Amino acid sequence: MRLQGKLAVVTAGASGMGKAGVLRFAREGARVAAIDIDIGALNALAEEAKAEGLDVFVIQADLSDEAQAKGSIDNAAERLGGIDLLWAHAGIPGPASTEDLDMAAYQKAVTLNVTSAVLASGQVARHMRKRGGGSILFTASVSGLVGSMFSPIYSSCKFAVVGLTKSLAQRFAPDGIRVNVVCPGLSDTPMMAGFVGRSGDPAEQAANEQKMLASVPLGRLGKADEIANAALWLLSDEASFVTGVALPVDGGYTCR
Ligand SMILES: NC(=O)c1ccc[n+]([C@@H]2O[C@H](COP(=O)([O-])OP(=O)(O)OC[C@H]3O[C@@H](n4cnc5c(N)ncnc54)[C@H](O)[C@@H]3O)[C@@H](O)[C@H]2O)c1
Repeated sequence: MRLQGKLAVVTAGASGMGKAGVLRFAREGARVAAIDIDIGALNALAEEAKAEGLDVFVIQADLSDEAQAKGSIDNAAERLGGIDLLWAHAGIPGPASTEDLDMAAYQKAVTLNVTSAVLASGQVARHMRKRGGGSILFTASVSGLVGSMFSPIYSSCKFAVVGLTKSLAQRFAPDGIRVNVVCPGLSDTPMMAGFVGRSGDPAEQAANEQKMLASVPLGRLGKADEIANAALWLLSDEASFVTGVALPVDGGYTCR
């Protein structure tokens, strides 16, 4: 068991990669709190975990709200008895372009992609210090490493998350807290349509998907479990000398 006895929190943990992480971490011996806005999906996750005998509980919170973002971390710490590991995974595609910008949609993208990561890291640090250290993982994207023609605003937000990672890795190191970021390529989860299918036209989505896949040396989409596997390693003690790293998990997309 690679996370035996660890106390872990996953935000946006009710679907896709986050859900894969919650289940994987629990199977590796962690006690896990999953935070998400979607109570239906959270309850389904709790049932699935219970059926497998996993130590998982769920907390509903809207992470675009400052009080809920901070409060849900404190709530998780109280119920877990502390926090060793945090995967701050929340994010959304946001508007497609800077032209004719819908300011409310723009603000929501910045809030969920950047501010929620900032708040989670600030709130969790005090809990990790009490335990003598910990491990924080953010989720950026390949779009946090190279530009994205489909999502310039999302890309700028994810570059910010990579900058946050490299800065906090230095700032939190004296406290024994490692900080890394996983950078997935286009992956087969419900969110994918938000990147390549914004118009809602299935033909356009398929064409955009093919355009993206043509740039992936391994020639396919990522799977939620493959991102969760990388998250597991970065959060675990196996990566004890790894901090400030932005790890692409992208089938080779960024090596071109
Ligand atoms: N899927 C991809 O292709 C891809 C690629 C690169 C990076 N990412 C990143 O991965 C993360 C999530 O992606 P996924 O593919 O697992 O997505 P997903 O759509 O499967 O899950 C997203 C989860 O976020 C939750 N959520 C949305 N708004 C919320 C809010 N305000 N408060 C709390 N929870 C909220 C949803 O309820 C859902 O459970 C994001 O940070 C995204 O930018 C995804």
